[in-house]
Amino acid sequence: MKFFLDTANIDEIRNAAEYGLIDGVTTNPSLVSKEGRDFREILLEITRIVDGPISAEVVSTDASGILREAYDLAKIHKNIVVKVPMIKEGMKALKQLSKDGIKTNITLVFNSNQALVAAKLGATYVSPFVGRFDDISEVGMDLIGDIAQIFANYQFSTQILVASIRHPLHVREAALLGAHVATMPFKVLEQLLKHPLTDIGLERFLKDWEKVAKPSQR
Ligand code: E4P
Repeated sequence: MKFFLDTANIDEIRNAAEYGLIDGVTTNPSLVSKEGRDFREILLEITRIVDGPISAEVVSTDASGILREAYDLAKIHKNIVVKVPMIKEGMKALKQLSKDGIKTNITLVFNSNQALVAAKLGATYVSPFVGRFDDISEVGMDLIGDIAQIFANYQFSTQILVASIRHPLHVREAALLGAHVATMPFKVLEQLLKHPLTDIGLERFLKDWEKVAKPSQR
């Protein structure tokens, strides 16, 4: 399972990269706007830190605008994956981008038929948003199971990128369901490493060791 970091913040990406756990990065217009910096500069800086797929989202809503932005973004670096919204015009553009060999991530996916359509049109990734379902009292993870089953039925090579992850349980469930990628905020990545019994256990080991260690080792 691949871990992507869901952020446009360079400090977070640098920190996460130190763990050696980050396989890629996803950004979106909201995340980029928080940084108050030029989008291209941010993307270039990310490509220097992470050697893996970096999703950059288009903001046009008509097929020709989406294509224009997509070609422009793809030129920035070989690792750029163009993020296209799951709308009719986005799907027209997707067909062309797939023909042109440009990697794509179809975003704002909220049902399995949308994922099926994107896979049929050759998307590299589909991004179902699990957390936004949970926010409205629906179980987002149910969608991941459905998409995984559909993709397996027809051997689609499109990868399931679980997005809108809010907590470690989402990562665990995504892994159990066989999702290819989980994209998560930095906070969730850090939470994956933690268990209070690990901390208590280590503290006890170190205390006990002090009793046997020679004065020179203390
Ligand atoms: C990533 O590709 C998505 O844009 C992101 O995970 C959305 O997360 P949110 O629902 O927390 O905004």
